[in-house]
Amino acid sequence: MKYTIAPSILAADFTKLGEEVRRAADAGAAYVHLDVMDGAYVPNISFGMPVIASLRKATDAVFDVHMMVREPDHLLEAVKAAGADLITVHAEACTHLHRTIGVIKGMGLKAGVALNPATPLSALDYVLDDVDMVLIMTVNPGFGGQKLIPACYEKIRELRARIEKTGRDIDIEVDGGVDVNSIGRLAEAGANVFVAGTAVFRGNIEENVQKLLAALPKM
Ligand code: DX5
Ligand code: ZN
Repeated sequence: MKYTIAPSILAADFTKLGEEVRRAADAGAAYVHLDVMDGAYVPNISFGMPVIASLRKATDAVFDVHMMVREPDHLLEAVKAAGADLITVHAEACTHLHRTIGVIKGMGLKAGVALNPATPLSALDYVLDDVDMVLIMTVNPGFGGQKLIPACYEKIRELRARIEKTGRDIDIEVDGGVDVNSIGRLAEAGANVFVAGTAVFRGNIEENVQKLLAALPKM
């Protein structure tokens, strides 16, 4: 299994966004995690297509767009046009989740489904075969800089066991409160894509990315 660091730009300095994202990528972060919030599904507003599209010119990293948006279907084409490689939608926010995943795959992009801390894994029952990634929220979505909720470790372990039974290579991404202290345990539980905002962009970006990579179990 491949480990990937996905810096969340929510914690970056927006006056130097291109530069900070390039620094994280050069230090070994293969993804850029873009948190789109609508102020309705989550109690916060972040950024949208213009920011994603301008950042697209700054880096070749994989654009991992996390849609914290109620009924996101009408935005998916625009998110793709802005530069997304992978779009994750929330199971709780999509009335027709199966259809939404099909639309993302039909556009030639990778599709992810996110589950909030209180959402059971059974929400994946009839869609797991269709997704490339499951995002296990390790905080309640809406804000960076929160503390990881420990119940997520068991949830990740159960999901990894379930994925193994499918025989498919499905990524488990974790998002919220990921830092040098939690990343190793999250990996041992079965996660392999690690979103980190505060832990990447506060302080020295290169050192932070290297420390996160060094805290992962040896392959
Ligand atoms: C939370 C967002 C996260 C957030 C993570 O709603 O989905 O991606 O930016 O931030 P940290 O790593 O600071 O907890
Ligand atoms: Zn996120």
